Amino acid sequence: MLTFDDDAPSPLLQRTSPSVRIPASGGIAAGARPLAPVHDGVAAGATPPTDFQRVRVEDKRVINGTADVNQLVPFKYKWAWDKYLAGCANHWMPQEINMQRDIELWKNPRGLTDDERLIVKRNLGFFVTADSLAANNIVLGTYRHITAPECRQYLLRQAFEEAIHTHAYQYIVESLGLDEGEIFNAYHEIESIRAKDEFLIPFIDTLTDPTFRTGTATADQQLLKSLIVFACIMEGLFFYVGFVQILAMGRQNKMTGASEQYQYILRDESMHCNFGIDLINTIKLENPHLWTAEFKTEIAALIAKGVELEYRYAEDTMPRGVLGLNAPMFKEYLRFIANRRCQQIGLDPLFGKADNPFPWMAEMIDLKKEKNFFETRVTEYKTGGALSWD
Ligand SMILES: [Fe+2]
Ligand SMILES: [Fe+2]
Repeated sequence: MLTFDDDAPSPLLQRTSPSVRIPASGGIAAGARPLAPVHDGVAAGATPPTDFQRVRVEDKRVINGTADVNQLVPFKYKWAWDKYLAGCANHWMPQEINMQRDIELWKNPRGLTDDERLIVKRNLGFFVTADSLAANNIVLGTYRHITAPECRQYLLRQAFEEAIHTHAYQYIVESLGLDEGEIFNAYHEIESIRAKDEFLIPFIDTLTDPTFRTGTATADQQLLKSLIVFACIMEGLFFYVGFVQILAMGRQNKMTGASEQYQYILRDESMHCNFGIDLINTIKLENPHLWTAEFKTEIAALIAKGVELEYRYAEDTMPRGVLGLNAPMFKEYLRFIANRRCQQIGLDPLFGKADNPFPWMAEMIDLKKEKNFFETRVTEYKTGGALSWD
């Protein structure tokens, strides 16, 4: 059985495979020592500072930090480093998975029903571009705003994993001989896919806007909002209808190669989501003034909108019941996941009691065993925080 416990990766999988105000400081908090030009995304690390002092743990911050971002140690955010190590231990490549059975099934006119083929095509139609959006968001956006080198180290790993995921989806498209133009343009041409991406793009644009700087409450809230949308709604919600569908096929001995690819991707995404949640909660902890009642209301509304969009996508991919699944089952499932995401970032559940209608998915994703730093690793964080070279 595959597990997605980010702290104890399965041995089976281990390498057997509003307006933005631009502060004059350029994002560095007023009064910051001119030690390390950490935040402009260009100067960081380009030239060793001449007036320096050694990095102290207490100076490290996830955003608006002033400590030299080139120095990974002394560690403060051990949870991020641990996830980096776990991500590396889980390394895999799409070509390692045999797609022959999928190819034979797809080419057999009686191999799959029209509804099953629609699911595969709509599913890939979302994912083939979604992970490129994710990668661009990390590399061109999130990375330069994060001033903790342990977190940057994980983001570098995550960016490569997003490239592997895009590779995996492309590999499936190529293996099955699908119309690449149709699949790769689905995010323009299929309304329910376009609606999901159009929801995400303003938040990605915030992070990738070259003039955007953190360092004010307004800008820092914008950053936090984009991080929540990315981790909790994109990676933590928008991926799940698609994962259930393909894994359901695998359980019925159909599209087993694609299903195996998705299992590896799901494991990676589960860790991306957990990392994002730890990042969000650390920013909250270090900047409690950002977490206002008004802000929380705004975030809850965004998560509710995400559930609505993902449900529309479920309906669009499954106009009729198929594989023992139907769109209404996903309403309950999405509410279940949304409540979980709310709880993970310290919001009240959005929906009344919502159960998981796909208990077999729980075995694969194992939401109950999902670990993140704030639930299970507080002691370790404090230990890391006590390290100092001074
Ligand atoms: Fe991904
Ligand atoms: Fe991801």
